[in-house]
Order: sequence, then structure tokens, then C-alpha cells
Amino acid sequence: MSVAVITGASSGIGREFAFKLRDMANVKEFWLIARNSERMEKVRDELGVPCKIMSLDLTKDEDIEKYREALAIEKPEISFLVNAAGFGVFGSFDMLDEKTVTDMIDLNVKATVLITHMSVPYMKRGGRIIELGSGSCFTPLPHFNIYSSSKVFVLHYTKSLNYELKPYGIRATCFCPGWVDTAFLPKSLDAKGAYVPKSMKPLLNVSKVVTGCVKASIKGRSMYVTNWYTKMQHVLFKILPDCILTKLWLGMLKKNEE
Ligand SMILES: NC(=O)c1ccc[n+]([C@@H]2O[C@H](COP(=O)([O-])OP(=O)(O)OC[C@H]3O[C@@H](n4cnc5c(N)ncnc54)[C@H](OP(=O)(O)O)[C@@H]3O)[C@@H](O)[C@H]2O)c1
Repeated sequence: MSVAVITGASSGIGREFAFKLRDMANVKEFWLIARNSERMEKVRDELGVPCKIMSLDLTKDEDIEKYREALAIEKPEISFLVNAAGFGVFGSFDMLDEKTVTDMIDLNVKATVLITHMSVPYMKRGGRIIELGSGSCFTPLPHFNIYSSSKVFVLHYTKSLNYELKPYGIRATCFCPGWVDTAFLPKSLDAKGAYVPKSMKPLLNVSKVVTGCVKASIKGRSMYVTNWYTKMQHVLFKILPDCILTKLWLGMLKKNEE
């Protein structure tokens, strides 16, 4: 039996991928990974298909090792891998404490790479990998620096991975959504005194963007940029120099009240 492995499966985009892969790709078994097992049990009950729930903190090396051990014992055939576990925090470089910075890099970058590296040997031709980039990975973004930089890594890494895995019939897609209506945004905007966007519009529907990404992944696309606004940003960011883009970005920010 083939399985889909999803990190960040307890909420938002990761959770939505479970339902879309069940409905659109006929996935009949899942490995759900996140920290909150109660929320994953709820997802499992709503999915109505067999799920292995792994309560792991992917910023911790020992928890990532537990995933390696589970693979070695169960030897699943992985049809889809979705690395949706991730978080971001708005705040200037000097505002963010070291733990927040390292957790963001460890989760968004290191865990994404390691989980993929461990999973690929269990994938066959036709296997699909979806890594979570972001609409914020196209240009430098002061005050969202560590997060957006972590996603730049994911974009380049996924495009290269897609190329390297092509001869094996496995494709990797970097999913680059604009702002999506999930728990991510309130958490990322929390810091008092931080510069944050004046508006989060257009705010995208999670079901719609994940549907689009599943289609792109099945087609073997190396990248999926969601809506017209994010696509326009992607093109503009290729044309305009960083100094103009940075000015435009800074003009879109306001200070969070202390
Ligand atoms: N929402 C947006 O606007 C947006 C836009 C572009 C990209 N993204 C990216 O999309 C991905 C999913 O975000 P989302 O919008 O679905 O946000 P979300 O609802 O907050 O989901 C984040 C997921 O990551 C898991 N997670 C967080 N820390 C973890 C840790 N240390 N170990 C294991 N799992 C952890 C969370 O589960 P637990 O708390 O149970 O661990 C949760 O399942 C992220 O990579 C984010 O950067 C989001």
C-alpha cells in the first residue's frame, strides 16, 4: 500500500493537503506529522482512511530520527510527500531572539531537507514531493527577513531537486502561495512593535490553492504560484531592481502597536 506523508498535517495547508490527496489522487493511507496529536486525530477521524499519527517536533534532531526509524521498520512506498510544517514571524533582525531564528531555520529549511532526504529512497517512479515555499521568496523582505530567506532556500533547493529526481520519475514542486487564510498569519503578526503589512489582501482560500497545487504536482511542475496577484509579483520581482522592490515593500508596512 502506498502512503502520503504530510508534515504540518494538524492544521492549515498541510491538513488541507490530506483531504485533497484523498479526493484528487486517491490516496488511501497517510502518515500525519506535527506536534499536536489531538488535532491530527481529528484530521484522521474526518479523513476516514488509515492514518499513522506521529507527534514530532521537527526542530528537534531526536524527533526527526524517529521518522527515520519508522521508515526503516515499516518500509512504506511513499507516493506523495508534503512538507508543510513551517512558521514565520514578522520582526526586525534585532527584535527576534536566537531561539525563534534557529527554530525558523531548523523547521523551514533543515527539517524540510532531512525529511525529504530520508523519504526519497522509499519513493518509486510517479512519486511526488511538495515543498512549501511562499510568495515571500521572490525578493529580500526586511522585517520578514529570516522567514522569507528560509523560503528562498526552499525555492532554489526544490527546483534543483526536481531536476535531479527527474530521471527517476519523481518530481518536486515548490508551492508558493500568497497570504492564505490559516493560523499562520495571526501567529506571524503577533510581535508588538514589529513592522507588519498594512493589509493581507487578497487573502486566499486554503481549499482553492491546495487544489491548484495538487494539480501542478501531478503534472510534475517545479513550481506552483497561486493567484494572479502573486504571479504578478513573481514577474515584477524578476524585472525590477531590489532597491525599488524594497522601497515598495517598506511602503506596505505599518508598525504594530506597542
Ligand atoms: N498561510 C500563509 O499565508 C502561507 C503563505 C505562504 C507559505 N505558507 C507556508 O505554508 C506552510 C503551512 O502553513 P499554514 O499556513 O498551514 O500554517 P499553520 O496553520 O500554522 O500550520 C503550520 C503547521 O506546521 C506545524 N508545525 C509548526 N511547528 C512545528 C514543529 N516544530 N514541528 C512539527 N510541526 C510543526 C503545525 O502543527 P503543530 O503546531 O501541531 O506542530 C501546523 O500543522 C508553512 O511552511 C508556511 O510557511 C503559508
